[in-house]
Amino acid sequence: MRAFQFHNPTRLIFGKGQLAALKTEVPKYGNKVLLVYGGGSIKRNGLYDQVIQLLSEIGAEVHELAGVEPNPRLSTVHTGADLCKEHDIDLILAVGGGSVIDCAKAIAVGAKYDGSMWDFAERKAKPEAALPLATVLTMAATGSEMNSGSVITNQETQEKLGWGSPLVFPAFSILDPVHTFSVPQDQTVYGMVDMMSHTLEHYFHLDTNTPVQLGFCETILRTVIEAAPKLINDLENYELRETILYCGTMALNNILSMGLAGDWATHNIEHAVSAVYDIPHGGGLAILFPNWMKHNLHVDVSRFKRLAINVFDVNPEGKSDEQIALEGIDALSSFWTSIGAPNRLADYDIDASQIDVMADKAMRFGPFGNFNKLQREDVVEIYKASL
Ligand code: NZQ
Ligand code: ZN
Repeated sequence: MRAFQFHNPTRLIFGKGQLAALKTEVPKYGNKVLLVYGGGSIKRNGLYDQVIQLLSEIGAEVHELAGVEPNPRLSTVHTGADLCKEHDIDLILAVGGGSVIDCAKAIAVGAKYDGSMWDFAERKAKPEAALPLATVLTMAATGSEMNSGSVITNQETQEKLGWGSPLVFPAFSILDPVHTFSVPQDQTVYGMVDMMSHTLEHYFHLDTNTPVQLGFCETILRTVIEAAPKLINDLENYELRETILYCGTMALNNILSMGLAGDWATHNIEHAVSAVYDIPHGGGLAILFPNWMKHNLHVDVSRFKRLAINVFDVNPEGKSDEQIALEGIDALSSFWTSIGAPNRLADYDIDASQIDVMADKAMRFGPFGNFNKLQREDVVEIYKASL
């Protein structure tokens, strides 16, 4: 293991009926709340009314930013930061999925900064202050509800950049599996691909003596693999939603990364695709991850072999390590296809025409990946293999 410090300040409030905790938690931060939400799902499923009711019971002054886009946009962040400054907001409350939460995080630092928060995404400046933010999560996927990362799209430059700061860990996050009942089947699948990908990003590391971390990863992967086919046919099953919601948070809240540096190249490669084509993040990952794996098999075939045997029950008898490893990658790919995820860029009508553009975007901050440092030609190869 490498040396590490672990500190996750987010109060996780998990379980049925926990929304009422808003009444005790919100007043800790003040009275003026900016309620941030997406394109309307919370109005359709009744969550908006419940949140407004609880906030009115504590006499909160509520301002709203509606319409946060999937792959949230910088222009929306700017609108939100202006609202915070104008109304002297005390707490930003994000009610939604990862996009809404990521937007709220960007607003939180934007509200305390004179320039554009894009400076932080571009690494031109570091956030020095942020408004507190809290979340009511409605979709299991990103882990944004309990981490300090955020991903924002700049439509003008067609860039999608991840950034982070310890200042934007949510102060508290309310996770009630019932709030995820209305997530449609396709988004449910993308979310599960995303949390599996976060787990895999951690699984592929070069640090040694990490048996517990690897075991945690394998447990999460096996759990999602078992639950996913049942859940997509039974979207309002409480226990399955509960399991998946918990997996999503655990896959990216720094618990899996204690003592190791996960790879994260596939995420970077995917963000470049969704920057240009605005596709769902989980969909992009399902296409790209198996091809990243095949490309990097040579780095440490034993890790891929372990994944194949421990997670996908590949029978190793009479096979070379490479054969076992490749069977595991195929099993992952087939599993994702079986639950309805895409497996070729062509599924999104993406052809070779923008590969150079995407590769340039992926290389924005130079060669990347901790399991294997990818150069531009590696990225191009992975895109080509994914067409
Ligand atoms: O906008 P609304 O109407 O709310 O609809 C959303 C959206 O259309 C819908 N949805 C969410 N909860 C729902 C629901 N529909 C019905 N019922 C509900 N309960 O689902 C659609 C997708 O939502 P979105 O928030 O975009 O999905 P997700 O949570 O997957 O977030 C994706 C974004 O997070 C970034 C991705 O790149 C992408 O921009 N990521 C953020 C990370 C982080 N902060 O740690 C890490 C991830 O790797 C990822 O990159
Ligand atoms: Zn992700």
